[in-house]
Amino acid sequence: QSYFRGRHFIDLEAYNREEVETLLDVSFDLKRKFAMDIPTPYLTGKTMFLMFFEQSTRTRNSMEAGFAQLGGHAGFLDTSSMQVSHGESPKDTAIILSGYGHAIACRYCNWGYGNAYLNEMARWSRVPVMNLQCDLYHPMQALADLMTMKEKFDSLKRLKVSIIWAYAESHKKPISVPVSQILLFPRWGMDVVLAHPRGWELPDWVIAKAKANAEKYGGTVTVTDDEAEAYRGAHIVIPKNWGNWVTDQTGLQASGAVKVVDDKLRAHRSWKCTEEKMATADRDVVYMHALPADRNNEVEDAVIDGPRSIVYDEAENRIHTAKAVMTLLMGGR
Ligand code: CP
Repeated sequence: QSYFRGRHFIDLEAYNREEVETLLDVSFDLKRKFAMDIPTPYLTGKTMFLMFFEQSTRTRNSMEAGFAQLGGHAGFLDTSSMQVSHGESPKDTAIILSGYGHAIACRYCNWGYGNAYLNEMARWSRVPVMNLQCDLYHPMQALADLMTMKEKFDSLKRLKVSIIWAYAESHKKPISVPVSQILLFPRWGMDVVLAHPRGWELPDWVIAKAKANAEKYGGTVTVTDDEAEAYRGAHIVIPKNWGNWVTDQTGLQASGAVKVVDDKLRAHRSWKCTEEKMATADRDVVYMHALPADRNNEVEDAVIDGPRSIVYDEAENRIHTAKAVMTLLMGGR
C-alpha cells in the first residue's frame, strides 16, 4: 500500500506509477483550489528549510510561495551564509535542521557531489529531505512536466517526446533534467527520443534504466545524433541549451571548466530550436523547456513565444506539483 508521510523525495524512481499518479491527482486538486481561492491549510504550523547552493527563480519561489499557501513557513537558506561554506558536514547540517522543523529541501547541482550530498542528508535527517535539483535528478521539474503533458494531451501513450539535450559525464555538467525526464516519461508509455551530437552522451546506466522502464510500461527509448529525426513527427519537443552558459545555474561559472565546455557547446550552435525545425514535427506539437531559456542561442523567439509553446504552463505547474509533494510527504499518510 502506498504511503507518503515522512518519505524523502530524491528521485522519482523511488515512487511507483500509482504513487506518481497520486502526486499528480493532488497537484490537479491543489491547482483547482488555487484558481478558486479555496484555502488549503494542510500544513499549518509546519516549518521547512530551503537550502540553495545555486541560483533559482522557479524552484525557490514555487516552494516558498507554495508552502505559505499550505499554511507553513519556509526559511530560505543561502548556503554561502551557512556554516556549510566553512565545511560543516551534511550529516551535522541534516541532524541540526531536522531538529528545528518538519522538512529540509536542498539544491546542490555540483557534478559528482550534489546527489551524494542529498543522500547523506537523507540518511541523517529525521524529517523528509526533498531534492530541489542535484547533479543527477530534478524530480520537481519532471513531475511538473508530466502534469503539463497530461493537461495538454488526452493520452500520453505512444506520444513521440524528443529530448534534444544531453550532457556528457566527462564535461562535468549537471544532467538532472534530461535524466529525470528520460527515466520518467517511458513509464507513461511514451516513445522517448534522446538526440544530441556525438560526444554528449548521457551515462550508459541512465539509458539502460530508461529502456528498462520503457519495456515495463510499453514505451520506447531511442538515442540518436540525428536532430532531424528527433523533430520529425514529434508531439512534444524539449530542446535545450546548445548556447552559452550565461543563464545556467550550475554554480560552476567561476571555474575554468565552464569556459572549456562553453567552447564545446558553441560548436553545436546549429542545434538551436527554430520554426523551420518545428514545422517538421506533428501539426499539434508542443514546445517545452524547464527554463531559464537562452533565447539568443537555444531557441528562436518565434518558437518560445509562439502558439506551440507551453513553457509558462510548465513553469506554473511547478508550484502545484511542489505543493502536492509537500502536502503528502509532510502531512499525508
Ligand atoms: N527549472 C528550474 O529549476 O528553474 P530554476 O533554476 O529557476 O529554479
